Amino acid sequence: MKFFIDTANLSEIREAYDLGVLDGVTTNPSLMAKEGIAGAEKVLAHYKAICNIVDANVSAEVIATDFEGIIKEGRELAKIDDKIVVKVPMIKDGIKAIKKFSSEGIRTNCTLVFSPGQALLTAKAGASFVSPFIGRLDDISQDGLELIAQIRLIYDNYGYQTEILAASIRHTIHLIKCAEIGADVATCPLKVITDLLKHPLTDSGLEKFLADHKKANS
Ligand code: E4P
Repeated sequence: MKFFIDTANLSEIREAYDLGVLDGVTTNPSLMAKEGIAGAEKVLAHYKAICNIVDANVSAEVIATDFEGIIKEGRELAKIDDKIVVKVPMIKDGIKAIKKFSSEGIRTNCTLVFSPGQALLTAKAGASFVSPFIGRLDDISQDGLELIAQIRLIYDNYGYQTEILAASIRHTIHLIKCAEIGADVATCPLKVITDLLKHPLTDSGLEKFLADHKKANS
């Protein structure tokens, strides 16, 4: 399973990358705004800065919602670095743009996916990644993990190569369940990745090992 970090914060990206288990980065306009990154030049420079930190793919989202605009913006983003994957929203012109990008060899990530039908369209258009948002479905009392299972089944039925990038992950249970279902990728905040390290029996076990070692060697 690939791990992506879902943030535009450079120090968090560095920390996750230093752990040695990071396979990519996803951003979105809200995450960029949270870091105070505004204006076309600054946005492009920030994506470049992220690409310079990681040896991994970096999803950069278009703002345009019309076909021509998405194509123009996506091509500009793709020019920043080979690591860039153009993130396109699940709308009619987005699907058309994904098809076009795929014919040009530009990798894409279709975002804001909330149904199996949307995921099917995404794969048919030739997207590299589909991003179903688990947490936001849970927030409206729908089963986000069930969506991941449905997409896995559909993609396996037909051998679609689009990678399932489970997004909007809130905690480690989401992440583990996605791994059980067979999502190809999970993108999550740094805390969810580092929470995987934690278990009280690991802490108490290590404390005892070190205490016994100290006693035996004093
Ligand atoms: C995915 O690529 C999105 O950036 C992200 O996972 C959204 O998560 P949220 O629902 O926590 O905002």
